[in-house]
This record gives sequence, C-alpha cells and structure tokens, in this order.
Amino acid sequence: MTPLLEIRNVSKNFDALKVIDDVSFSVPANGRTALIGPNGAGKTTIFNLISGFYDVSSGVVLLDGMDITKVPSRKRAALGQARSFQNIRLMPHLSVVENVMLGQQSRADGLKQALLPLRASHLRAEAEAQLESMNIRVHPDDVVSSLPYGIRKQIEVVRALASKPRLLLLDEPAAGLNPAETAALVEFLRKISDSGVTLLVVEHDMSLVRSLCDHAVVLNFGRKIYDGATAHVHEDPQVLEAYLGPGHAGKAGLAGAVA
Ligand SMILES: Nc1ncnc2c1ncn2[C@@H]1O[C@H](COP(=O)(O)OP(=O)(O)O)[C@@H](O)[C@H]1O
Ligand SMILES: [Mg+2]
Repeated sequence: MTPLLEIRNVSKNFDALKVIDDVSFSVPANGRTALIGPNGAGKTTIFNLISGFYDVSSGVVLLDGMDITKVPSRKRAALGQARSFQNIRLMPHLSVVENVMLGQQSRADGLKQALLPLRASHLRAEAEAQLESMNIRVHPDDVVSSLPYGIRKQIEVVRALASKPRLLLLDEPAAGLNPAETAALVEFLRKISDSGVTLLVVEHDMSLVRSLCDHAVVLNFGRKIYDGATAHVHEDPQVLEAYLGPGHAGKAGLAGAVA
C-alpha cells in the first residue's frame, strides 16, 4: 500500500551546515508515527520540509504517491496536510471559535473565499461542532488568552483539524502539559486518529510516544538511526547511545533518559 507520506533521501543544508543528512522514511496511512530524537536532531526541520516551509537541498517528498517536493506550502495544505507548531500560534485576542475558523481558511479556494460572508454562519456551526465533538471544556466565545495552557494546546490541534487534513503533523503537542493534561491529550489524539487522520508526532515525552504511536523514526544529528516498532525503540543500542552517550547503552532505560 502506498504510504500517505514518504520522504526519500532528503537532505537540508543551511549554508555550510548540513542539518538533515539523507533521511528516508514512510508514514503509513491511518497510522500513528512518532518522530523522536535529542534536541537539535532536526525534527522541526523535517516538519518544515514536509510542509514546504523550507525547500529541500536534495531528495523527494511524496504525499500519497504524488511528488510534492516543489509544491508551495499553501498548496500542500490544500492537498491535505495540517500542522501545529512547537510554540502556540493561536490568536490570543480572538475567541476559541474564531481561532478554529481561521484554520478552515486553508481549504478555501478563490470562489469559496468570495462566498465567505455568506457561509460564515455555516462555518461557525461547523467549528462549534468540531469543538464539541472533541469534548474540550470551553465556551466557543471564550477569549483564548483567558484559557489554561493545556486547553490552548488542544484548541491549536482543533484549529489544524478544521482544514480537514488527511495528515496531521504535531510538533511537541504535550510540551508544558501536566500529567493529567497529557493523558487527556492522548485520548484526544486517539480519537482524531480513529476518525481516519494519519498522525506524525514529534514528542519528547516517551510515555506519550509509547501509549500513542506504534511506529517510531529516530533522528540524531540529522541522520536516521532507527525506524521500526515503538515497542523496541528503548532497546536499540544506537538510540540509547544518542540519548545517553557512548558506553551507556544497556546500562539505563531510555524512558529515564528522556522523560
Ligand atoms: N533556519 C535555520 N537556519 C540555520 N540553522 C537552522 C535553521 N533551522 C534549524 N537550524 C538548525 O538545524 C538543527 C536542527 O534544528 P531543529 O530541526 O529545530 O531540531 P529539533 O526540532 O530536533 O530540536 C539545529 O542545529 C538548528 O540550529
Ligand atoms: Mg523542534
């Protein structure tokens, strides 16, 4: 079966600095894949290459078998990609439902854009229904800046979903969340996955990775060092060395190193 996303021999240089070095991996459709690795390994850069915020220096990006390497980022969104960012990028002075409606924009083409005033109430109803289906405990008219951080992270995910993506890229969705908020987020992401959205998740919290993702790709210094079952990632000598340093493989668990 064609993977929903594939990157093939992708490299990225910033001037003389090689940040991504010949990385290839696939994200199966309807799966939940984790992209992990130490700080500075290149995870966010990979997201920027997948979503077209950066151009690759070499290599190919395929979405559902189609070469999108040269497709601009706005068009990639229209093809079914959405992402959330490492730092929250909601509009703090707007309401919850207005923020979600902003996420609907990326699927609007010229004609829809022109009709937007007529469709506004329909779109608002759709955004409200999406918030309700995700069980987020907010009023649609709450102003985002008044809400707790954990709720804002969830709203950011709902906003990304408002464009009805097939592939959702999440960059450290649990950063800054307490254990209860993290557990709620995992439930929430499972629900999204069950609805048929393919997930690719950058995450430091290994317990989240283990409870959510079956497949993991590990980067270190811009190179892929592991690609396989999440269940065995903490036993891999190269992964242990990347997290714990040379000579430490086997002496301690990965969970302790990155938790
Ligand atoms: N726009 C850029 N210009 C120069 N270097 C960059 C740029 N973006 C990322 N890098 C470098 O690429 C490396 C990987 O960064 P990043 O992808 O953010 O890592 P991660 O998300 O895994 O922590 C870092 O050394 C970072 O400084
Ligand atoms: Mg990052």
